[in-house]
Amino acid sequence: MTNEKGFRIFATSRIGAPAENRLREHGYDLEVFEGPEAPPKSLIIEKVKSGVDGLITTLRDRIDAEIFEAGKETLKVVAQIAVGFDNINRADANKYRIPFTHTADVLTEATAEFAFFMMGMVARKMYESERLVREQRWPSWHPFLPFLGDEVTGKTIAIIGTGRIGLAMIKKCSGFDMNILCYDPAYQNNDYVNGIQEVMDLRYARGIQKEKTAIKYVEVEEALRTADYVSIHVPLLLPSETEKPTYHFINEKTLKLMKPTAYLINTSRGPVVDEKALAKALKEKTIAGAALDVFEKEPLPADSPLLDPEIADRTRLFHHFASGGQITRLSVDPEKGMAGRTAQAVIDILEGRYDGDPARMPYVVNKEAFAK
Ligand code: GLV
Repeated sequence: MTNEKGFRIFATSRIGAPAENRLREHGYDLEVFEGPEAPPKSLIIEKVKSGVDGLITTLRDRIDAEIFEAGKETLKVVAQIAVGFDNINRADANKYRIPFTHTADVLTEATAEFAFFMMGMVARKMYESERLVREQRWPSWHPFLPFLGDEVTGKTIAIIGTGRIGLAMIKKCSGFDMNILCYDPAYQNNDYVNGIQEVMDLRYARGIQKEKTAIKYVEVEEALRTADYVSIHVPLLLPSETEKPTYHFINEKTLKLMKPTAYLINTSRGPVVDEKALAKALKEKTIAGAALDVFEKEPLPADSPLLDPEIADRTRLFHHFASGGQITRLSVDPEKGMAGRTAQAVIDILEGRYDGDPARMPYVVNKEAFAK
């Protein structure tokens, strides 16, 4: 089916030529805000008011009642190119009965592998090592000077949040002979955890790994107190939204539970970590280091305490890049790429697939608004 109905779409960002072309091949009139920065909210409202049928958004856009009100007669779908959707007010979307979609699954492995690499980078001091070479400060090979890193093999990691990405991180860590402590305030996948334990036992029995390793769910205190690495994989949930918020889950108190030799890895959402408290912990060396891909405010402001040169050797910072692999971001295949999945979500809704029932459409988040 093509664009017999004259569907119009506004995208607040480029999503790459292949997926944009797929929408245009469907005959849709696609207008793209070239960016690369996000458009002002007033422009999004203006476009929605002008009667677009579909709105493609990124996690930088605040999508709330103002936007849904502007589109209440015409807007049929908000398609977000991200798995996280804390920028979209779900209650407002439901009030206006406008479905919104996300791109779960296709970025799971890319995000988990990046989290793993970040962990290696901070623990094995890869950035410091490269700087030494580049800046001609490498005096001589030496058994332990000018510094050493910490291994991950054989160590214990706490996985905070065992949704898709947390489980993928578990899989990668188990391949590095790590012991794994899982904590999730909402959801426990015992089947997966038991499967990983079976794989660990088999690897040990067959001599593939030298030491026995273990995986189990524990309470948060035990996870934080025991782990050599703490990796965060929870969605951002504000106190106004739930009884179990994740906002500032890592704070002065929880940081104090961590070992002085432990590292924090965050690829989830910035506000899950109280950055001021983290910078203080890094400065006072009450933890060993942190690798962060997400921040309370993005891009990271110049006056962020995380940019303090005094903690630069133990603080690795990235530009919200964990899902930033070519295929993961741009593939037009909805089973592989975020862009492909975003385009497919728009097509599903505008072309009335699944009998036109958003509750049955795979990428719709707020299915509850359409339950019969
Ligand atoms: C990235 O952070 C995403 O939610 O996809």
